[in-house]
Amino acid sequence: MAPFAMLWSSLLGFIFTLTATSQDPASSALIPPDGNTPSLSFVGRGVQIYECSAQSANGSYSYQSQGAEAELFVYISDGKLQSHERCGRHYFLTHPDGEGGKPTFALLASPSADNSSIPTSTATFKLIAIVAAANPKNIPSLLLRATSHSGNGALSMVSYVQRVNTVGGVATPSQCKQQGAMLRVPYRAQYRFWSQAQVPLASIPASIMVPKGHTLLTSFFGLGFQIYRYDGSKWTLSNVSATLSSLPGTPAMGKHYFLKGPNGQPQPTWEFLSPRGLVSAKLIQKASKTPNDIPWFLLLVTNSIGKQSLASMVTYVQRSSTVGGMAPTSGTAAKLGDIFQSPYSAIYSFYGT
Ligand SMILES: *[C@@H]1O[C@H](CO)[C@@H](O)[C@H](O)[C@H]1NC(C)=O
Ligand SMILES: *[C@@H]1O[C@H](CO)[C@@H](O)[C@H](O)[C@H]1NC(C)=O
Ligand SMILES: *[C@@H]1O[C@H](CO)[C@@H](O)[C@H](O)[C@H]1NC(C)=O
Repeated sequence: MAPFAMLWSSLLGFIFTLTATSQDPASSALIPPDGNTPSLSFVGRGVQIYECSAQSANGSYSYQSQGAEAELFVYISDGKLQSHERCGRHYFLTHPDGEGGKPTFALLASPSADNSSIPTSTATFKLIAIVAAANPKNIPSLLLRATSHSGNGALSMVSYVQRVNTVGGVATPSQCKQQGAMLRVPYRAQYRFWSQAQVPLASIPASIMVPKGHTLLTSFFGLGFQIYRYDGSKWTLSNVSATLSSLPGTPAMGKHYFLKGPNGQPQPTWEFLSPRGLVSAKLIQKASKTPNDIPWFLLLVTNSIGKQSLASMVTYVQRSSTVGGMAPTSGTAAKLGDIFQSPYSAIYSFYGT
C-alpha cells in the first residue's frame, strides 16, 4: 500500500472510532433506518448561499436557499497533537431538478491533497428530514439519502448523511431588499455518513426471525410505492412498485411487485435482473415497529424461477427498516376505484440454506 493510502485508511479507522462514540443527535427523525451504521464523520466549513427573490403573494422579498459550498475536514486529536486535515468538498450540482439543486460530497484521494480536482469518490443526496436547530441563529439539522455515487473511494458505500451540530449559516431576512441579490453566510456543521450493513439486523423482532439453518444471502434496499385501492369502504393494498438496489442510490438490481397468484390473490414477488430470476412468497409473520411505517414481515418463498439466479437459493424474505408506505387515513374523501401511491423504503433480506 502506498504511504498516502495507508495514512488515509488508518485515518478512516480513526474517524470511525470518533463517530461511534460521539453523541447522537436527539431527534429520531434524523436517524437513518435500522440496518445502517455510521461510517465516516467530517466537519464542514464554508458558506450557505441564498438568493433574494419575490416569492410570496404580497410581493415581499425573501431569501431562497441556493445550496452551499464547504470544505470537509477531519480533526485529529492525538494527545497534545491536534490538527485538521482537508479531505473533501461539499457543493450543490448546478442544474436544479424539481427538488432544487442536489447536495453533493467529494472526497480527495488523500487528506490535504494539493490537487483537489481529483476526488476518489463522490455521492449525491436527496433531503429526507429537517429538524430546526435549538438556536434560531443556526441552520437546521438534516437527514439526506444517497441518490447516486461515483468512484471507488469511501463515499461509494454511503447510504445516508446527517448534517448536525450546525453553527451559523442563517440569512438575515431584513437584508433581502433587491431581487436577485446573492448572500453567502458562513457556517460550519458536522457531516456524518452512514452505510448499509450486509449482516442480519440486530433489531429484528423474534417473531419475524428466520428459522435456524437459514443464513443471510444478501440484502437489498427497496424504494418505491405501496399502491392502495379504495374498495368503497376502505383502502386495500393492491400492488407494490419498488426498485431494489444494493444500497440507496446504486444501480437497480431488481424489482418488487405483486403477481396474481393461482388463487387470484396478489403474491409479493421479487425479480432479480442479473442473472434473471424471480421469487414469490407468502406472508407468515408481521411485526409493527413504528406506528407511521408499514410493518416488518417474514415471508416464506412459495415459488421461484431462474436456476442461475439468486432466486434459486432463497427460502425466506424479510422486510425490515420500513419508512412510510401507509394507506391514507380513513376520513379522506375517496370514491370506489381510487388509487393512492404511498412512497416508502425498506430493506429486503434474502435468506437461504
Ligand atoms: C408577505 O407574506 C409573507 C409570507 O408569505 C409574510 O411573511 C410577510 O410578513 C408578508 N408581508 C407583508 C408586508 O404583509
Ligand atoms: C490537478 O489535476 C488536474 C486533472 O488531472 C490537472 O489538469 C491539473 O493540472 C492538476 N493541478 C495541479 C496543481 O497539479
Ligand atoms: C402489479 O404491477 C405490475 C406492474 O408494475 C403488473 O405487472 C402486475 O400485474 C401488477 N399486479 C397485480 C396483482 O395487479
